[in-house]
Amino acid sequence: MIRIKSRSQIKLIEKSGRIIAELFEEVQGRIKPGTTTLQIDRWIGEFIKKRGAISAFRGYRGYPADSCISVNEEVVHGIPSNRKLKEGDIVSIDVGVKLNGYYADAARTFPVGKISLEKARLIRVTREALYEGIRQARAGNRIGDISFAIQSYVERHNYSVVKDLFGHGVGEALHEDPVIPNFGWPKTGERLRDGMVLAIEPMVNQGRDKVKVLPDGWTVVTEDGKPSAHFEHSIAIIDGEPKILTEIIDGE
Ligand code: MF3
Ligand code: CO
Repeated sequence: MIRIKSRSQIKLIEKSGRIIAELFEEVQGRIKPGTTTLQIDRWIGEFIKKRGAISAFRGYRGYPADSCISVNEEVVHGIPSNRKLKEGDIVSIDVGVKLNGYYADAARTFPVGKISLEKARLIRVTREALYEGIRQARAGNRIGDISFAIQSYVERHNYSVVKDLFGHGVGEALHEDPVIPNFGWPKTGERLRDGMVLAIEPMVNQGRDKVKVLPDGWTVVTEDGKPSAHFEHSIAIIDGEPKILTEIIDGE
């Protein structure tokens, strides 16, 4: 069942989302060759704590860190470690925050130093695919309109969408109904309406769509070893329109 949120509940989710948006603005400057993913996770943990919030991920099904940090062929759910980032890597950082009982969830892929044109294009297409999906998150449309917009944009650019992991409702829990696949058909699935809060999150592979989980039980990697990117926003449908809750709009 999809939980419809009141305006005041959406305001609270937005407060959590704002923390993630500010965190992403600041973390950018810390992503450098030689930095370990654990150092980045520690910084993220401190940032969340300073803002009076807690990580929505730590302890979730036993997850052992405050963020997920996935490098190159790692798609999502990478566990921060002593792995050093190197020039040319791409690094996907996924953060969930809980404040006053309300959750927001967002992710972005960053370049480490100078990266190849191909990796830069993968990042750009994944980010744009997210915005294509968000544009469809309007009252009266259906979940499948979001899914189709993402898949068709990605495939038009000759990349593939991961089929094994999904976006989701968010707010009173980290994962709520509905499930939001990054592939599907227009005019199918649940109808969207005001008060829905959704985490839309395309995971895009440069090569084939197949993924597998490493023996650590968490890290999802591409089967063909080619790079993958991930962008996610939590959005609310207000007055029929999508409002992004995990992004700082200039002047707000
Ligand atoms: N951020 C992921 C999602 O969007 C969830 C990560 S779960 C964790 O659904 F346990 F790995 F933290
Ligand atoms: Co999510």
